[in-house]
Amino acid sequence: MVEASKRLLNFIDRSPTPWHAVASIAQWLQQAGFRRYEETEDWQIAPGACGYVVRDGGSIIAFRLGQTDAPMRIIGAHTDSPGFRVKPRGAFRQAGFDSLGIEVYGDPIIATFADRDLTLAGRIMVEDRDKGISTRLVNLERPLLRLPNLAIHLNRDVNQAGLRFDLQDELPLVLGCAAEQLPAEEGIRQLLGAAAGVAPETILSWELAVVDVQPGAFFGRDNEFIASARLDNLASCHAAVEALLAAEPGQTQVIALFDHEEVGSQSYKGADGTFLADVLARLAECLGLRRESERRSLHARSVLLSADMAHALHPNVARVYEPQHHVHLNGGPVIKINAQQRYATDGVGEAYFEWLCRKAEIPCQKYVHRTNLPCGSTIGPIAAGRLGIRTIDVGNPMWSMHSARESAGAHDHGMMIKVMTLFFSDATELPS
Ligand code: CO
Repeated sequence: MVEASKRLLNFIDRSPTPWHAVASIAQWLQQAGFRRYEETEDWQIAPGACGYVVRDGGSIIAFRLGQTDAPMRIIGAHTDSPGFRVKPRGAFRQAGFDSLGIEVYGDPIIATFADRDLTLAGRIMVEDRDKGISTRLVNLERPLLRLPNLAIHLNRDVNQAGLRFDLQDELPLVLGCAAEQLPAEEGIRQLLGAAAGVAPETILSWELAVVDVQPGAFFGRDNEFIASARLDNLASCHAAVEALLAAEPGQTQVIALFDHEEVGSQSYKGADGTFLADVLARLAECLGLRRESERRSLHARSVLLSADMAHALHPNVARVYEPQHHVHLNGGPVIKINAQQRYATDGVGEAYFEWLCRKAEIPCQKYVHRTNLPCGSTIGPIAAGRLGIRTIDVGNPMWSMHSARESAGAHDHGMMIKVMTLFFSDATELPS
């Protein structure tokens, strides 16, 4: 079971941004014999064929096409993680330093980014002699940026008031000492150009995330925990890919990994966009299904597992959790349930996942948020609503969700892969 967590940490280290995660997954699928399909080309895909589609570099859907009218098994997750993004004219000079202005992406625990060894990774768009515009992935890898804390002597009540930052004025990251010959903007362009192997003046735009350079690690007396950036939600992406590759061929199996979940999913590649619906409709057409049989066979009988991380009990702060629904690290996969439909799980879906865990001989936990606390959400309710497919929200337990360095159990990842693999191979029809 721990081997799976080693592979996960390795994957996350190679995937500092959604664009890198999708590139890593595409390469992995390619090596496993999956063919890349472009949304712009004419698809002729035979039953049994394996392929994948990428939309705008950040979202990816992979599939193993089944026989004509078998119901589908779909696993959804998200490729993005909360943090900071560099503004288009981010670099500026103040008080003898070059700094980088950033926007907040999603809902990170901002204070956890202070005093960390940060770098830049993402994609840059460059002028290309042949294609007009092309995109390049960049990862500067080395410690490059810092958000230094004030000394306690200058911030006397920090331990009482908590560590707070004004988002506009106090978050710019220190990039370097100001150099007379080199304007701040030029400095950052030179770094990016060198990393991408292009002339700085050809850079037209960028999407750059601020990422922690520290690799993932095991910790705990018996190495029973893991710590890493982006466990939310690259852990679910990684489990979904491993399950798809391990599953027995049979019915149509799909994984849909979306960008932009942390900012609400409403974008042309997000879960609230048309990407998954478009791909499923095209796959149905490849299978020769009329619209009537597509609705009847695929939508009415299919199941979507929405995989995102769950809140494990923090031993020091048990009071913030629902006392009857504590979930524990290394206690196995979690079903997430919310009466307000912030999680998409219904009673039948809950029963089905519990039953799958029993068949896989692994434990299963159930999470409900405290009634007097607003509950977070996932792509589950969004995808369920858009597609009309029964959806179950599940995920592995973790601590410190949205911290620069999150933690989780070392044994849960292997269990999640096991039950997801079984899910892909299982054709049980659920009561409607
Ligand atoms: Co998440």
